[in-house]
Amino acid sequence: MRKNIVAGNWKMNLDYEQGVSLFSEIVNMVKDEVVGNQEVIVCSPAIHLYSIGKLATGKVSTGAQNIHQAESGAYTGEISAAQVKSVGAEYVILGHSERRAYFGETDALLAEKVNTTLKHGLKPIFCIGETKEEREEGRFFDVIKEQLEKGVFHLSAEEFASVVLAYEPVWAIGTGLTATPEQAQEVHAFIRQSIAAKYSAETAENTTILYGGSCNPKNADELFSQADIDGGLIGGASLKSRDFLDIVKVFN
Ligand code: G3P
Repeated sequence: MRKNIVAGNWKMNLDYEQGVSLFSEIVNMVKDEVVGNQEVIVCSPAIHLYSIGKLATGKVSTGAQNIHQAESGAYTGEISAAQVKSVGAEYVILGHSERRAYFGETDALLAEKVNTTLKHGLKPIFCIGETKEEREEGRFFDVIKEQLEKGVFHLSAEEFASVVLAYEPVWAIGTGLTATPEQAQEVHAFIRQSIAAKYSAETAENTTILYGGSCNPKNADELFSQADIDGGLIGGASLKSRDFLDIVKVFN
């Protein structure tokens, strides 16, 4: 079901105490701000998931930033979907450009991770987006379509209903160079049209598509007011409770 979601991606930040303290602040600050079909998600490093899972409420849920595609076994350093599920997390970020770039995660591998995530009743936040070069060469629609086709379009319509998409232009991540609302809306509309062509107009209308890439309290309102932008996947600004709350309040 389509929702207005503000999801924080803490990436590799905050020690245990800092993470639990920030999550507690967010829960307390957000409790009167989340209305209607809005949802707030915090995707933390694995060390925080157990404790913040205990603090999560019906309005603030938790997620992991990755899972291994295997059920369990000799995969030193990895974390499984079952382990993430066991500490109360509901979401898993997959396909983030940093994992595609730094850890060589391919479309095929990500499709396996999506399958494992869904098998355990978790919801993928599936990231897609083009690099600066791909944008400058005008290839961004082709890139995004391929990421969809190879990453999630193998799913049935019923399975796809659990997927949240996040358009994250790589050139906007952590750079302070945000996509303009027009640039973002153009791609979000293309993503929704691609979903309609693959599945149905109803499936497309019910899909949540987030924007990520230097989203902050100053630009969130204009971005989220676009017809096909349903919220944001927030990096840096999610590490400051005041900024994160100001982004959450955009939907109020
Ligand atoms: O996953 C969200 C992240 O990639 C965006 O980072 O710091 O540009 O908001 P940031």
